[in-house]
Amino acid sequence: MTTPHPMPGALPPNGGCPHGPASSTTVPAGHLAIHGPEFSANPHAIYNQLRALGPIAPCEIAPGVYGYVTTTYRSALYLLRNTPEVFAKDPRHWLALRDGHVPADSPAREMMQPRQSALWLDGEDHGRLRGAITDSLGWVDTHALAATVARIADQLLDRISTRGRADLVAHFADPLPMQVLIEMFGCPSDLGQVIVNSVAKLFDTTQDSARTNADLESACLAVARLKRDQPAADVASWLVHHPARLSDDEIVQQILLVVGAGTVPSTNLIANSLLLLITDDQYSGDLHTGVRPVADALDHVLWEDPPVSNYCPLYARYQHTYEGIRLPAGVPILVSFAAANSDPALGKHSQRRAGNRAHLAFSAGIRSCPAPGLARVITETAIERVLDRLPDLALEVPVSRLTRRPGTFHSGWTNLPVTFPAAAPSATHSYGVSR
Ligand code: HEM
Repeated sequence: MTTPHPMPGALPPNGGCPHGPASSTTVPAGHLAIHGPEFSANPHAIYNQLRALGPIAPCEIAPGVYGYVTTTYRSALYLLRNTPEVFAKDPRHWLALRDGHVPADSPAREMMQPRQSALWLDGEDHGRLRGAITDSLGWVDTHALAATVARIADQLLDRISTRGRADLVAHFADPLPMQVLIEMFGCPSDLGQVIVNSVAKLFDTTQDSARTNADLESACLAVARLKRDQPAADVASWLVHHPARLSDDEIVQQILLVVGAGTVPSTNLIANSLLLLITDDQYSGDLHTGVRPVADALDHVLWEDPPVSNYCPLYARYQHTYEGIRLPAGVPILVSFAAANSDPALGKHSQRRAGNRAHLAFSAGIRSCPAPGLARVITETAIERVLDRLPDLALEVPVSRLTRRPGTFHSGWTNLPVTFPAAAPSATHSYGVSR
């Protein structure tokens, strides 16, 4: 763990904190829940209430798990730009976890516990592992990736196009990123399925999480060993043979990280964008005329409904004051990408947001997503195939009857039931992108 050091703006420990002394059992006064059905149904109502409390507000992250969350664009950037010097990412700074006050089955524990991956380390350890990941993802041929995505999309769409109705989450947005990642890593399909199914389970539920974690890690280890012996042109081989010389354990954790980080957010971006394309007049009016590109819809969603809504938990190394708010050391502060993007201080000009990439959907700074380009290739190609293959898409139920996935950390839909004119069975498809 990085050694804590004094920092600008720090106050003496526990010096008059309005939320009580910094202790692992402290419950911040006036906190609001950012979990549960009420939050999932209308997160922006809660973000507004939290914003009224201040730029960083006390919250309940999961039942019995307390912390803070940023509520403005400015405060989100402040945290992201001051890590790791002021705010550590390493969850070993989390006092409540260290003292055994985080319930064993808490979703917060699964999503925020220490792991030896780039996501959860600071300083040189982070830089070394992130460098290996960034290089390996940077070597992906995006043209080949687009062709892979189109092929996988068409295989999935072949299964539903003759039916006239489908759930675009279960039949398309869920399986597609998983299958793409399996191919990017060069995983044999049996190991790949274990990895991606387990990751999906960890995002949505905590049932039997110990077993899920064990399954995940042994499948990743099998992939690492395979690639040491038989390297190929794939991300797993590039990681295994990277000059940073990662150990088997480190490779397991980085594969786990990239698969986890790459699949669920991509699923959500595809589903959130498809819903927008189907239902929003600005987009649905010209869904099949090619006037408004899919890229604009992605920008809109990345601003308005970012797939990773609240994450990047950070820990003040010492009690710290930000704009009059005293933040105790060792208490998680989530960065809310969703609250930042919807901050009224930015002005509400969604029409001008097409092509505007100043949103925080991919985070910012040294913690930003290393793969926004790959994410765009995957999601844009996938959505374009849906629009080409399933003309006249319509939602089968009113939007009010759709349900959001549970969870504090990501934003997506559990299902997206649609209808469309059934296509005649056809054996081959062009993988060209027509919009
Ligand atoms: C729509 C798709 C995606 C979105 C919205 C997204 C968003 C994000 C965000 C917000 C973070 C920061 C999380 C944190 O600091 O706690 C992140 C990190 C990361 N993402 Fe993405 N991501 C997407 C797709 C992908 C894909 C396709 C990959 C890989 C192929 C990927 C790999 C990663 C990795 C490895 C990190 C950790 C970086 C680090 O801690 O240094 N992401 N992503």
